[in-house]
Amino acid sequence: MVKTSVTLSGLTLENPVIPASGTFGYGYEFAELYDINILGSFSFKGTTKEPRFGNPTPRIAECPAGMINSVGLQNPGVEKVILEELPKLAKCFHKPVIANVSGFSVDEYAYTCEKLDKQEQVGLLEVNVSCPNVHHGGMSFGTSPEAVAEVTRAVKAVTNKPVYMKLSPNVTDIVSIAKACEEAGADGISLINTLMGMRIDLKIKRPVIANKMGGFSGSAIFPVALRMVYQVAETVKIPVMGIGGVSSAENVIEMMLAGATAVQVGAANLVDPFICKTIIEDLPRVMEKYHISDLNDIIGGAHK
Ligand code: FUM
Repeated sequence: MVKTSVTLSGLTLENPVIPASGTFGYGYEFAELYDINILGSFSFKGTTKEPRFGNPTPRIAECPAGMINSVGLQNPGVEKVILEELPKLAKCFHKPVIANVSGFSVDEYAYTCEKLDKQEQVGLLEVNVSCPNVHHGGMSFGTSPEAVAEVTRAVKAVTNKPVYMKLSPNVTDIVSIAKACEEAGADGISLINTLMGMRIDLKIKRPVIANKMGGFSGSAIFPVALRMVYQVAETVKIPVMGIGGVSSAENVIEMMLAGATAVQVGAANLVDPFICKTIIEDLPRVMEKYHISDLNDIIGGAHK
């Protein structure tokens, strides 16, 4: 019998597998397919203070081994999330959930986090300072150590729940950004969000995506994500959630060896909505194959 449970800032998860924000809705949509209580947790759709329609279409471009999205943080706004989405989720998911929060100003991040802090079902706040698809918000906060620290401090001031900062790979020095979060009081780091990319339609000789560029995700980015998780885990003392191109139990183990305590699965949910269930079911067999009896023993193991 292998041990798959892990602990993130005091929250014990049955296993480290977590669907990533923006790829799993508010959870209840997937509960029609399988019992989502098998998940370690999940990070719900990025939520902002005000409702957002999102970017013009087309918003998606397919790529070999991945996809580009420019959704633009479409969501119903925090009030409606609290009044309508979370009650629906509570009926089918009975574990603490991760609330993913985006914003366009420091005050807005704090406002939305303060609202979600009061929700019993929210176990952890994941602050997205890395969305590449909006102007004057998102990634612009996550590419400067000073700005990311300001957001971290503002959010920490309004909540007692663990705060994880979700970082962008579109930077030259990920370590300095992660360190700034830790020094400002973050409880953990989630990384990576998507890489900036684009496609051009040969027939019309124009960008495929209306917004021209978007965030590239999928199995093609796994080695980049793994490298950044390794670099950050080597430097910070707070836990890391590894994200980026994960689509198998083997990928989960690799991420944990690089230093992740938990692992999020993103674009793969859009290709196969059962992928997290498959990974969770495969995990004990793959652990046995590699002589791992307890996942906690391998966190950061590749650094030794
Ligand atoms: O466009 C989007 O909504 C993407 C968000 C993100 O990558 O954080």
